[in-house]
Amino acid sequence: IDPSLDLFTEIEKLKKEKNAVLLAHYYQENDIQDIADYIGDSLGLSQQAAKTDADIIVFAGVHFMAETAKILSPKKKVLLPDLKAGCSLADSCPPHLFKKFKEQYPDHLVITYVNCTAELKAMSDIVCTSSNAVQIVKSLPPEQEIIFGPDRNLGKYVAKKTGRNLVLWNGACMVHEIFSREKITKLKERYPAAKFIAHPECEDAILEMADYIGSTTGLLNYTSKNAATEFIVATESGILHQMERANPGKKFIPAPPNNTCACNDCPHMRRNTLEKLYLCMKNEQPEIFVPEDIIVKAVKPIERMLEISA
Ligand code: 13P
Ligand code: SF4
Repeated sequence: IDPSLDLFTEIEKLKKEKNAVLLAHYYQENDIQDIADYIGDSLGLSQQAAKTDADIIVFAGVHFMAETAKILSPKKKVLLPDLKAGCSLADSCPPHLFKKFKEQYPDHLVITYVNCTAELKAMSDIVCTSSNAVQIVKSLPPEQEIIFGPDRNLGKYVAKKTGRNLVLWNGACMVHEIFSREKITKLKERYPAAKFIAHPECEDAILEMADYIGSTTGLLNYTSKNAATEFIVATESGILHQMERANPGKKFIPAPPNNTCACNDCPHMRRNTLEKLYLCMKNEQPEIFVPEDIIVKAVKPIERMLEISA
């Protein structure tokens, strides 16, 4: 890339030239968030992908999110700046193993968290995100038995909130699993007026301490509505950018991880850079392809989710 290029200007030009829409998850680096047409959580992004009239969807997020966009808008070109932007949670649930797991519970309905492969969605009855998982389980008759995967932490949280007995797949997110209860306790002592807020992908022991639990959009809205001026935030640190923008003067402190990790950045989300974003829009690749038979099966549980959340 010519170092004299202003990538912000070039990306804006490419958006117009190609009628492309840039969707970014809150866990993207600040520059990408600043140039996005829409920033959101997984639910918001799939709603946007379903309704856009752009010719090209550029997805600044991870692979399963771009796949979901392709499933919802199969005629559009969907681009992902780095094809290696995966997800530890999606990886924790290989479709061939999930198929065997599912066969053990033939009468159960399968709810999968959107953080999974297209193949897994194709095996599901309803997809959910962290912002509608509780609502989706509550919408089902109480006698309906349910398998929930791949995130065991979100699954446990939903089971607790709904009083339902869910059969859980044993997967987890590498970013949300690393928070240290001990260090958070110490931080709370240092900032006694701070609200502690957490994403439901965090472990039980962390969620127990939380003043508020919600998806990234839920957490962001909470910090704007709540009168507190200090917040300790247990999720990927990219969301702090929007919290700070929406609430000048309030203080946001990333919840400390345990000693195995230096920060709360998702290494998959952070594979995307402004440079890769520019190149992907210029060259119209890497492009996301999902086999037709998988699209036909996977679109149903995603549309069911969108209907319930509308
Ligand atoms: P939400 O976007 O639903 O908050 O999920 C967070 C996440 O981990 C996305 O990868
Ligand atoms: Fe996957 Fe966790 Fe990264 Fe989200 S934050 S993309 S769930 S590894």
